[in-house]
Amino acid sequence: MEWKGKWIGPAQSMGDVCPVFVREFNKGDFPGKEIKSVQLQVTALGVYEAQLNGKRVGDYVLAPGWTSYETRHQYQCYDITELVEDRNRLEITVGKGWYRSPVPGWITEEGKARRAAIPAGLIAEIKITFTDTTTAVIPTDETWQAAESRIRFSEIYDGEVYDASFEVSDYQPVVLLERTTDNLIPQQGEKITEHEYVKAARCFTAPNGEVVVDFGQEVTGYIQFTVDAKAGEKVEISHGEVLDKDGNFYNANYRSAKSKIYYTCCDGVQTYKPKMTFFGFRYIRLDQFPGTPCADQFYAVAVHSDMKRTGRLRSSNPLLNQLFSNIIWGQKGNFLDVPTDCPQRDERLGWAGDAQVFFRTATFNRDVQSFFRKWLKDVSADQLPDGQVTDIIPMITGLVGAGHTGWADVATIVPWQHYMAYGDKRILENQFPSMKAWVDFIVSQCSEPYLWNTGWHYGDWLFYSVDNDTSGVSAVTYKPLIQQCFFANSADVTAKAAAVLGLEKEAAYYADVAAKAREAFCNAYLTPAGYLVSATQTAYVLALNFDMLPESMRPVVAARLADKVREYGHITTGFLGTPYICHVLSEWGYTDLAYMLLLRQQYPGWLYPVTMGATTIWERWNSMMPDRTIPNNGMNSFNHYSYGAIGDWLYRDAVGLHETSAGFKTMAVKPHTGGGFTQMRAEQITPYGRAAAEWRDEAGVFTLEVTIPVNTTAEIYVPSTSADGVMLDGAAVSASADASLEGYADGYTKVKVGSGTYRFEVKR
Ligand code: BGC
Repeated sequence: MEWKGKWIGPAQSMGDVCPVFVREFNKGDFPGKEIKSVQLQVTALGVYEAQLNGKRVGDYVLAPGWTSYETRHQYQCYDITELVEDRNRLEITVGKGWYRSPVPGWITEEGKARRAAIPAGLIAEIKITFTDTTTAVIPTDETWQAAESRIRFSEIYDGEVYDASFEVSDYQPVVLLERTTDNLIPQQGEKITEHEYVKAARCFTAPNGEVVVDFGQEVTGYIQFTVDAKAGEKVEISHGEVLDKDGNFYNANYRSAKSKIYYTCCDGVQTYKPKMTFFGFRYIRLDQFPGTPCADQFYAVAVHSDMKRTGRLRSSNPLLNQLFSNIIWGQKGNFLDVPTDCPQRDERLGWAGDAQVFFRTATFNRDVQSFFRKWLKDVSADQLPDGQVTDIIPMITGLVGAGHTGWADVATIVPWQHYMAYGDKRILENQFPSMKAWVDFIVSQCSEPYLWNTGWHYGDWLFYSVDNDTSGVSAVTYKPLIQQCFFANSADVTAKAAAVLGLEKEAAYYADVAAKAREAFCNAYLTPAGYLVSATQTAYVLALNFDMLPESMRPVVAARLADKVREYGHITTGFLGTPYICHVLSEWGYTDLAYMLLLRQQYPGWLYPVTMGATTIWERWNSMMPDRTIPNNGMNSFNHYSYGAIGDWLYRDAVGLHETSAGFKTMAVKPHTGGGFTQMRAEQITPYGRAAAEWRDEAGVFTLEVTIPVNTTAEIYVPSTSADGVMLDGAAVSASADASLEGYADGYTKVKVGSGTYRFEVKR
């Protein structure tokens, strides 16, 4: 699109102060014309907030969001017709945002300098349409002005400094900036908006005398406070996720992210919330605050991309329900235009591995279709010319690497799973070149044909390990074995994508690559007795999940996995094995072990953090010890969604609701009961409408109620010992006109149904 607006910046740098750009326009400027509508089209180098006549334009927080700015820089369009008066004053404040903050906190000095040199730029057009269909445009140009705003400092990691008693005056001219508009694209994902306002649960004095506010829930966003004060009085606030073992405020795990608010009061009752930054927190410490603070003065405002909620899950176990709530909050807190590893320390980056691991769970919980369509375009945009996919997207030049197994596979796994979840082929059309390029890169790196064992890799990140391990109990998985599994899977899904796109030659080629990669895997890593070169849970899980083994070896290897699970009595997988372990166990008849892992309340296990009061998913199985000591200040987040990938198993296997073809055109409900649960239910807004399943297992009677959306068919698997005795809506299922009985196998009676609601019952 051709821009009439030019990039502008303050004539003189304002340093850390956020400039506010101003342009006035009046209806009288257009004599004889009547305004029909007015649009504002805008973006900035940093993040911006626009106000017309003192009223906020739109509800987008942290606009324009975060993309690979060099190639793809989003702008937004707002309809401001309703805000227009006879005389108008448009004010747009620009903070550093992701563009100009030193993201990440450990960026090189050179990188810091490069970002610091980027001016606080703005580009905008006010587009007026008159009733006679003619139009006028007021573009950013030298007629705009800029002044220092009340935001004296604002940055992604360090927070905000705001002076409510500062009078904005001293307007300066602006200068035109030499910057391209070729990279400007319209908003692609959902906008970031405010969601819950979580009222503070308590305000208390900690044992060390500090005053702390607890919101009762870890939130990503910012606080809002109200205070009655005199001009010049100070507020100083620090953010933290947990209390330390003595019950004192703690945030050493934020590393270099200062995460502070400094606020200078004006006279009277005033309410403030930051606008150009965000924090990951449950607690705040009031380092300075006028008067005697009380909980009523504080809210935590949750902000995230405005993705529609599509999934819900509930069970008879309150601890599991809390775990599920933690998964949901983990997703909310890490989906701010980009899927991030964590929202608090000096990272908050689009780590590819984390996104890949959590993606399927994310699709169940919320409609992440456009969120990921947009981010995958950044994945492609940042992909290196040789096909390597960067570790973090948007990429940060010169920082961290590319081409790492399980991380780079985001380029293949996410488009394919996106297609399976939503059934929209366009995602494969968009991403196919990127998928291919990644697999081609791997093939080029094989030291012998189709065996990929070169390069450095993260491996099964954060797997179970003990310090000074003399007994070999740490679950170390040989990295080339992991590489080979992800390689085969990436080739496989690329072949499937090609087939969907009707690209027969490519489909055959990548299927052949996958087959050869599997063969190479078995030759290199599998013994005739079904042992793998690393006898870890992750090794067995990946081999089974990615179909690496000949048919005959699968049950043997599944038994080896079950042995490993029993031997430890707990999970030992890291990021790469965790999403699949319960799937594989339940698929191979070890649902009891899947539940054992799920329900374990000690470290390491999903419910351990829940028993410790977690309200989001922890980065490590032991981010906090049972005595509440925090073993690690270096890399230890209390809001890291990766291990929340168990959500997929809960929907898909425990309740049993899943697609059997792309976009839920056909689906299945196949519950895996156990774990002492008497009830579990899930619902899912599929592309065809609402699907739901609820099972109850009480007093010798098993019931399964399912709702199947319109224009779909479903296979229902009713746990039973034979097809006899399975009732549908009160009559023998075999006699039902609404369902066709397909037979009995492996502990399930299989029934096919179309759209509708059905209630199955079996006496146990
Ligand atoms: C992040 C991870 C990420 C990893 C790379 C960490 O610092 O927080 O979640 O995947 O680095 O291994």
